[in-house]
Amino acid sequence: MDTSPSKEAQSLGFIGIGQMGGAMVANWLAEGYSVRVYNRTAEKAEPLEKLGAVRAETPADAVPPSGIVMTCVSDDAALQSIFADGSIFRRLGADGIHVSMSTISPKTAAELAARHRKEGGTYLACPVMGRPDTVAAKRQTFYVSGPLSARRAVQPILERISRRVLELGDEPEAAHVAKLASNFLIAAVVESLGESFAFVEKSGLPAQVFFETITEFLFDCFIYKGYGKHLLSGEHREPLFRLALGAKDMSLVAQTAAETRTPMPLLSLIRDRYLASLAQGRGDWDWTAIVLEIRRQAALL
Ligand SMILES: NC(=O)c1ccc[n+]([C@@H]2O[C@H](COP(=O)([O-])OP(=O)(O)OC[C@H]3O[C@@H](n4cnc5c(N)ncnc54)[C@H](OP(=O)(O)O)[C@@H]3O)[C@@H](O)[C@H]2O)c1
Repeated sequence: MDTSPSKEAQSLGFIGIGQMGGAMVANWLAEGYSVRVYNRTAEKAEPLEKLGAVRAETPADAVPPSGIVMTCVSDDAALQSIFADGSIFRRLGADGIHVSMSTISPKTAAELAARHRKEGGTYLACPVMGRPDTVAAKRQTFYVSGPLSARRAVQPILERISRRVLELGDEPEAAHVAKLASNFLIAAVVESLGESFAFVEKSGLPAQVFFETITEFLFDCFIYKGYGKHLLSGEHREPLFRLALGAKDMSLVAQTAAETRTPMPLLSLIRDRYLASLAQGRGDWDWTAIVLEIRRQAALL
């Protein structure tokens, strides 16, 4: 059976070759797609050029006319700056699709979706659950929301490089809301694991023994297992997900919670952990480095 991509979907554009974008594009190239890539810092796209990607000189130049372009840049401001001059909308025209993978605010997603409806292209929310190593292994999950026709057009392309594609309906904000809530939950797991590890250690029970016990039955789940192991390793300098981006996500949750009048006292505590870690100069460390603040306060560091 021929499993190569269909003729219509063979060409993709990709803007933002960071840790996530680089890993996804490498996988699509390996699957036989031709990909035009744009990155603000052009040399970061060189490893992908060696794998067959074509380097675009401008964001709009990466967009196949009336085709599909993916974006995966740091934050709301970065995404807005790419669309500022309107050239991507024109290039997408009536039939093109923008697959928006950055973790951004639901408000920015709704505004950008409205601009697409007016100026060209369809906005498809598609934030990613998984870290760069998960992405490289094609084990990430995509949260997708937006018009059904766009979801159907993009689904086979996403399925090629992921474990699951989970649909959250027609609204452009929905997948971003789910992504932010998911990252809040993971940060809360890191916080509570860090606190409980400090608690047992200070009472003489090795954290490793406690971790093995709870993940046997109470928390037999990959988030607890994966993050628990990471915390026990004590290695937080090499970022799989940069702490500055985790801080950005907690701020987006807070911003959205304020807009929707949702009290989230636990979020306030976690956001302060991120602010403290940023103040300690750990923005480029892994986002699990907030545990160092817990351990410092417990006099374990
Ligand atoms: N890493 C993870 O585990 C993970 C998991 C799920 C979701 N995410 C989300 O995915 C997105 C990308 O994350 P990442 O880890 O790949 O980040 P990253 O490695 O820091 O890469 C960020 C990308 O955004 C680009 N960028 C930043 N500011 C820009 C601007 N003003 N104009 C144009 N491009 C700009 C960067 O270009 P330069 O190379 O020129 O700086 C780079 O390509 C973020 O929204 C993040 O929250 C990350």
